[in-house]
Amino acid sequence: MDLRTTYLGLNLRNPIVPSSSPLSQRLDDIRQLEDAGAPAVVMFSIFEEQIRHDAEALEHLLTAGTDSFAEALSYFPDVGSYKVGTEKYLELISSAKAAVDIPIIGSINGISPEGWTDYAMEIERAGASALELNAYYIATDPDRSGAEIEQMYVDVVRAVKNAVRIPVAMKLSPFFSSTAHMARRLAEAGADGLVMFNRFYQPDFDLDEMEVRSDLNLSTPQEMRLPLRWIAILHGRVSCSLAATTGVHSGRDAAKYLLAGADAVMTCSALLKNGIGHLRVMLRELEEWMASKEYTSVVEMKGAMSQKNVANPAAFERANYIKILEEYKGRYTTV
Ligand SMILES: Cc1cc2nc3c(=O)[nH]c(=O)nc-3n(C[C@H](O)[C@H](O)[C@H](O)COP(=O)(O)O)c2cc1C
Repeated sequence: MDLRTTYLGLNLRNPIVPSSSPLSQRLDDIRQLEDAGAPAVVMFSIFEEQIRHDAEALEHLLTAGTDSFAEALSYFPDVGSYKVGTEKYLELISSAKAAVDIPIIGSINGISPEGWTDYAMEIERAGASALELNAYYIATDPDRSGAEIEQMYVDVVRAVKNAVRIPVAMKLSPFFSSTAHMARRLAEAGADGLVMFNRFYQPDFDLDEMEVRSDLNLSTPQEMRLPLRWIAILHGRVSCSLAATTGVHSGRDAAKYLLAGADAVMTCSALLKNGIGHLRVMLRELEEWMASKEYTSVVEMKGAMSQKNVANPAAFERANYIKILEEYKGRYTTV
């Protein structure tokens, strides 16, 4: 079975990539991911705020006029740990690059175009084969229009593309008025790939403690449907790679995203829940499913069920909504 795929111009030995998460925090885990079949690893994200803080702290240390490093540190008590954060991140990329033969993809969580793009260059210098930008932005300001926010996404892609030579992917929010148009604009701004979609963590209310609860739930395969639809719609319509993220727990889940048109399929909840070895299981399941349908390569599968290629393209659109409701009404009987 030929599982090879090309993503961001990188030749990958199979399409199931461990996505940005604590799975990449330790060199030993990165090695284990490679052993389990990972064709590349996306590093956990370093945050724009962390990088800025480092830069500001350094500026302060250089200009504070103090002759003692320890004294300078007392102005910013947490400088030490932040500094370790950004430097350690680069060190981890360098060590991972030396330890494994698969591409290491750096990840920055940021949405403003200034103040941290130099760090993208450092990630490149540290040996990353590509960079993923996680634009985790919740638009809460009623004074900011959608157009302004879209421009911000485009500006950040341009700024990072100007700073580095390695391919750059953007991990996108699903919340745009015109997702298809936004995807095309980002590709035109230079994005080499789009990762769909960011999974925003939603707060809940604890009714006993009367508190807002922020916890992190791992995904379920039911959450695949939103990215699945958009990848199917965008396949063949944007000039960049597409990666799917959310809800991939089995090889059959991965097969769905490939059929929709993904060039790479990312997974993390399944590996956090079942262990890194589950990647092997997913790859075997993908091969078994492909064999059962007489596919011999991932390339053949890619986009076979995209909107362009299915017999009923309306299945991805509004027209199908009416049909689904009518069918349900037909089946509904009162109890
Ligand atoms: C514990 C945890 C940590 C994560 N950290 C990051 C991160 O640092 N950067 C990022 O872009 N995504 C991060 N993600 C999101 C995942 O990369 C992924 O996009 C999301 O969980 C959906 O995929 P899944 O259904 O396979 O979990 C994290 C997810 C989890 C569960």
